[in-house]
Amino acid sequence: MNISEIQGEIIRLKKEKDICILAHSYQAEEILEVADFTGDSYKLSVDASKAPNRTIIMSGVRFMAETCKILSPEKRVFLPNPDAGCAMADQMDKELISVVKGQYPDYTVVAYINTTAELKTICDVCVTSSSAVEICRKIENDKILFIPDCNLGAYVAAQIPEKTFKLLSGGCPIHACVSTDDVKTAKRLHPDALLLVHPECKPDVCAMADYIGSTSGIMDYAIKSDCKEFIIGTEISIQEHLQYRCPDKNFYYLSKKLICPNMKSTTLVDLYNCVSGKSGEEIVLPSDTISQARKCIDEMIRLGSN
Ligand code: 13P
Ligand code: SF4
Repeated sequence: MNISEIQGEIIRLKKEKDICILAHSYQAEEILEVADFTGDSYKLSVDASKAPNRTIIMSGVRFMAETCKILSPEKRVFLPNPDAGCAMADQMDKELISVVKGQYPDYTVVAYINTTAELKTICDVCVTSSSAVEICRKIENDKILFIPDCNLGAYVAAQIPEKTFKLLSGGCPIHACVSTDDVKTAKRLHPDALLLVHPECKPDVCAMADYIGSTSGIMDYAIKSDCKEFIIGTEISIQEHLQYRCPDKNFYYLSKKLICPNMKSTTLVDLYNCVSGKSGEEIVLPSDTISQARKCIDEMIRLGSN
């Protein structure tokens, strides 16, 4: 089968089997084309909870599929490629954060959504890159222990100077490897382009940006902008998606290092095999993990929608 034939089969099978396909913006273009919902982690987590279908396939990485399961425990949730983890989510576990919490007992523990379901069970509030500033501002406590991404944490802390943030040294190894030299090189090559970056980049890189935001935030900004050229400082798939959506504009990636092997590990064929019932992993979580982790995700949705 060629690409469009596989896509046709996926669309036919998902209707026949009442499956909702969610795809994170870092997935390949041919996957986004067959998804029911696409977007950043926050949008997908809300879309997943509202979808009427009995089965959800989360084309993204493991923590995203776990989030879907936590929000919709009555549904069957599948991850098309079981190897699709997240280097950041794997950095900190429940044991480590339990010890840190003991050192900062009067701090509210804010967990970036890029954390395991198990770790979320001991956190107070979850955030995504698009909701982190708003939610941290609304939290009543002025002391925040922000895990695991120190770059996103530093970005949020800079927007809310009246609060005290404790950060740990975690983060996305893909975004963190971009340097100010990469920015200087890209700006020299494309002097008229605006620089749009994800807050998982280092603070000195973010300081050189014209816009800082989530994957969806970056895409919306570029689509709506009157500017014709953009340097994209996040996973390179976003540069490709934008080029499809806006053929009259030019998009350049900030660095060739911005490739997430976990996001790239899911292919259209993996998705086809998952919809067909031939492969993919069903996400199974203990019921107490679901109920405890749900508290901090519900808190995110409550604070994010107020
Ligand atoms: P978003 O929250 O912007 O979707 O980002 C998720 C992610 O994994 C970024 O590396
Ligand atoms: Fe995780 Fe980084 Fe990949 Fe995002 S880009 S999924 S944070 S490893």
